[in-house]
Amino acid sequence: MKRLSIFVSGNGTNLQRIAEYFANKPNVEIVNVVCNNPKAYSIERAKNLGIPLRMITRQEFNSPEFTEEMASLKLDLIVLAGFLWKIPVNLIQAYPKKIVNIHPALLPKYGGKGFYGEHVHEAVVAAKETHSGITIHYVNEIYDNGEIILQAHVALDEKETPDSLAAKIHQLEQAYFPVAIEQVLFRR
Ligand code: GRF
Repeated sequence: MKRLSIFVSGNGTNLQRIAEYFANKPNVEIVNVVCNNPKAYSIERAKNLGIPLRMITRQEFNSPEFTEEMASLKLDLIVLAGFLWKIPVNLIQAYPKKIVNIHPALLPKYGGKGFYGEHVHEAVVAAKETHSGITIHYVNEIYDNGEIILQAHVALDEKETPDSLAAKIHQLEQAYFPVAIEQVLFRR
């Protein structure tokens, strides 16, 4: 049995898709959802999905006790699915190549501080890029810099808007993220 924790800050469409994907797979369990945002719709989703929810404050998140708490869960993988806080170094070091993130652009372009949510798509459209996509990568100490696991591309139309691009990117995320997680889990 592989044990996952999913960290979220927002809407949780990726959380929903990942949970549904693994729901009928007996060899993967989502042990909990960790959420830092009391207003996140992810909270409703976790409740509806019947997954234990752990709300965290920034102080708790950055404390050594939180790393210990996670260690007690005997996790195989931590999945960042729209989680907006930087992961503390002690947690990263406790999970080498065991934390994955999804970024809504083709890293290393449009990554790093400030590039999250619609800001990414606004910048891609403003730069008149012909393509964008998603990057699924391991998390290391540098923001949006860890080893890339998978990238998937999508073409921009001439009349592309940040909103229409966001919709395309979400489709890619839904298609690729659960499969990439499964591959990472069973590769080792
Ligand atoms: C996704 O676009 C993901 O790439 C980014 O944050 C967004 C989360 O969306 N890291 P949701 O909360 O899963 O709906």
